[in-house]
Amino acid sequence: MIAKRIETNIAKPFIKWVGGKGQLLSQLEANFPAELHDEEFTYIEPFVGGGAMLFFMLRNFVNIKRVVINDINKNLTNAYKVIKDEPEGLIYRLKHIEQQYGNIKDYEEQRTFYLKMRRSFNEEPLKPIDKTAILIFLNRTCFNGLYRENAKGFFNVPFGRYANPMICNEEVIYADSELLNRYNVEILNGDFKKSVNYMDAYGLNFFYFDPPYRPLSATSSFNTYVKEEFSDNEQRDLANFCRTLNKKANVRWMLSNSDCSSKNPADTFFEDIYSGFDIQRVYASRMVNANASKRGKLTELLVRNYTTKPQKEIIDNKYKLAL
Ligand SMILES: C[S@@+](CC[C@H](N)C(=O)[O-])C[C@H]1O[C@@H](n2cnc3c(N)ncnc32)[C@H](O)[C@@H]1O
Repeated sequence: MIAKRIETNIAKPFIKWVGGKGQLLSQLEANFPAELHDEEFTYIEPFVGGGAMLFFMLRNFVNIKRVVINDINKNLTNAYKVIKDEPEGLIYRLKHIEQQYGNIKDYEEQRTFYLKMRRSFNEEPLKPIDKTAILIFLNRTCFNGLYRENAKGFFNVPFGRYANPMICNEEVIYADSELLNRYNVEILNGDFKKSVNYMDAYGLNFFYFDPPYRPLSATSSFNTYVKEEFSDNEQRDLANFCRTLNKKANVRWMLSNSDCSSKNPADTFFEDIYSGFDIQRVYASRMVNANASKRGKLTELLVRNYTTKPQKEIIDNKYKLAL
């Protein structure tokens, strides 16, 4: 049998996830600690979401010694495990769903099929591989590719309207699986704080935190990924967690969040809870707003417990005031 050649440089998120960092990767990389380029390190991502940063790291840093990812969303972390351990079985199931869905031409019937799949996802006791296949199908066909849960923890996004959604991206699944195995990525499910137990006590550790963003206003932002909320109290807990990590000499961390003070200069929540740390601003184009005219370039915060030389991609405060 001829071994399948896997193109790992196409590894990327296998799922669309709100807050995905795909567009920001080069600006984020410009802000990495300098040591990452010449030392071995442990990479820990406690809010992995779609994993744009994870796959970027796996593609670009051969000197990663250990990789640990975590998310509170069990359906999502199970999906990473399935991609890692059972890519063929997953692809088989996705192709089957793709065929069934592709045979339906009428919009109302497609919607009925979607709702049936959503019901089994929420209510049936499924094996992780079957649940992951449905998760990916729902993600490709739901409104805006959102993942949102109601108070009972049920996925509740309505049907979207896509002409020909790609349900099975076989090459990406194999590429992701190959890298998750090559680095033997450890996949945790739970609160971000447990990631501290996976640090390397003696070597270099790099944490990237991409928590649910603090809303810029009561109605503007999306952050209901799961039924557990991430309010200002959790943002403060995270800042305290970062302060604790900062006491260790071998930890570098970088954290993304919304730029609340650019919207309302009196709202210095992040400047207060991260006082003493380096705060940069980077551009982001948010695509969550359903109203296309309200989508556009916003700034986001990047907080770090180290500094590097200013890069041209980082906008300075003067520019921020002019926005
Ligand atoms: C902004 S998203 C991450 C986006 C991601 N970095 C990407 O590129 O797609 C935030 C993630 O935090 C997860 N989350 C929410 N509360 C959490 C908690 N207490 N601990 C760990 N993860 C949590 C959500 O399920 C969500 O996937």
